[in-house]
Amino acid sequence: MQILKHLFDNNKNWATKIKNADPDFFSKLANQQRPEYLWIGCADSRVPANEIVNMLPGEIFVHRNIANVVVHTDLNCLSVIQYAVDVLKVKHIIVCGHYDCGGITAALENSEHGLIDNWLRHIKDVYRFHQKEIDAQPDDKKKLDLLCELNVIEQVANVCHTTIVQNAWKSGQELAVHGWIYRVSDGILKDLNVCTTGIEGIPLIQRIA
Ligand code: CO
Repeated sequence: MQILKHLFDNNKNWATKIKNADPDFFSKLANQQRPEYLWIGCADSRVPANEIVNMLPGEIFVHRNIANVVVHTDLNCLSVIQYAVDVLKVKHIIVCGHYDCGGITAALENSEHGLIDNWLRHIKDVYRFHQKEIDAQPDDKKKLDLLCELNVIEQVANVCHTTIVQNAWKSGQELAVHGWIYRVSDGILKDLNVCTTGIEGIPLIQRIA
C-alpha cells in the first residue's frame, strides 16, 4: 500500500485538470520561471500564497516562516530575497501577515513553547517598539490585531533595509515592497499602505551610501 496514496491521487487529478485547460502548461514551466512577485508570508496552513491571489505555479516566488519575520541575519530568507531580486528580477516583494496568527499570539504571552520562543523574540521586539500604542488598545483582540499589522510593517522595513533591496534601487531596478494582511475568517486581503519603492522611503541611518 502506498503511503499517503490520496495525496498522489490528488496530484494526478490536479495536473490533469491544468493540462486539460492548457496542454503545454507544464512543458512551458519546465523551461523557466519568470515570477513578478516574491511573497514573504506566514507558514500557517490557512494562508497559502498562490491560492489567496489566485495564481498558478510559476507566477509567485514564495518564502514562508512562522509569523512572516524577516530577520537581518536569516540566511534562508536573505537568500530567497537575493535570488528573487538579483536573478529573477521580481518587481514586487509582498510581506503578507494574517490576523489570528499563532506566532503573534504566542509572542504576547509568557508561556514556554520550546525552541520557537527564540524566534518569537523578534515579535516581542516589535511589541517593545510600539508598546504604548498596543497597550492603549481596549481589549486583547485589538492588541493582537494591531501587533499582527505592526509586525508586517516592521518586516517591510527590514526587507527595505537589506543591502539587496537598496542595491537594486541604486542600480535603477524597479522594485516595490508591500505590506499586506489577510483575514483568515473571510479570506480577504488588506493593503497596509506602506508600499516603499526607493531609498528615500527609508530612514537615513539605514541607507547605504
Ligand atoms: Co501566522
